[in-house]
Amino acid sequence: MKILVTYFTQTGNTEKVARAMYGVIGAQKEILPVDKVKDPSGYDIIICGFPVHAHSVPVPVEHFIKQIPSGKKIALFATHGSLRGGELATTAIEHAASLASTLKVLGTFGCRGKVDSKIIEALISKPEHRAWAETAKSAVSHPDESDLEDARHFAKKVAAILT
Ligand SMILES: Cc1cc2nc3c(=O)[nH]c(=O)nc-3n(C[C@H](O)[C@H](O)[C@H](O)COP(=O)(O)O)c2cc1C
Repeated sequence: MKILVTYFTQTGNTEKVARAMYGVIGAQKEILPVDKVKDPSGYDIIICGFPVHAHSVPVPVEHFIKQIPSGKKIALFATHGSLRGGELATTAIEHAASLASTLKVLGTFGCRGKVDSKIIEALISKPEHRAWAETAKSAVSHPDESDLEDARHFAKKVAAILT
């Protein structure tokens, strides 16, 4: 029985959450960035994390999810600048789950992650992004210890499915 924790990250937030999850898994386990996963069929459960980009799933993660053999168990998580449990983040995570429609989705998790200040500056000047970008400023301390604790709890629940 083997669990893979895999992630895509640009500024480290998603990797931080992935490592917290990985740390509490008692089963045989591996942690790899999505582009380093050679054969997803070799794992019993795949926990896959990504940063929300443009309200959706980054392209490398879309590709990764789509090539997982059907029937495989997967859990999805995201970090995002918008509010936790908010509509924008939820939509992106639901989109990831819809890409995994041939897979068995065990659960989803999301928490905030600080947003690069250059991205905030660029988006705040665009009317269609202003509200989101204003909110994202307050993600500066995330993921924090409370987010990581919730992530650990999520990973334990997912891993318990194997026992
Ligand atoms: C190009 C780009 C687009 C983003 N778009 C969104 C978005 O639509 N909604 C959101 O909540 N956060 C958005 N973010 C913020 C990231 O999801 C957030 O900072 C995340 O924690 C980054 O994770 P990472 O450090 O693993 O790359 C965006 C960030 C970047 C760089």
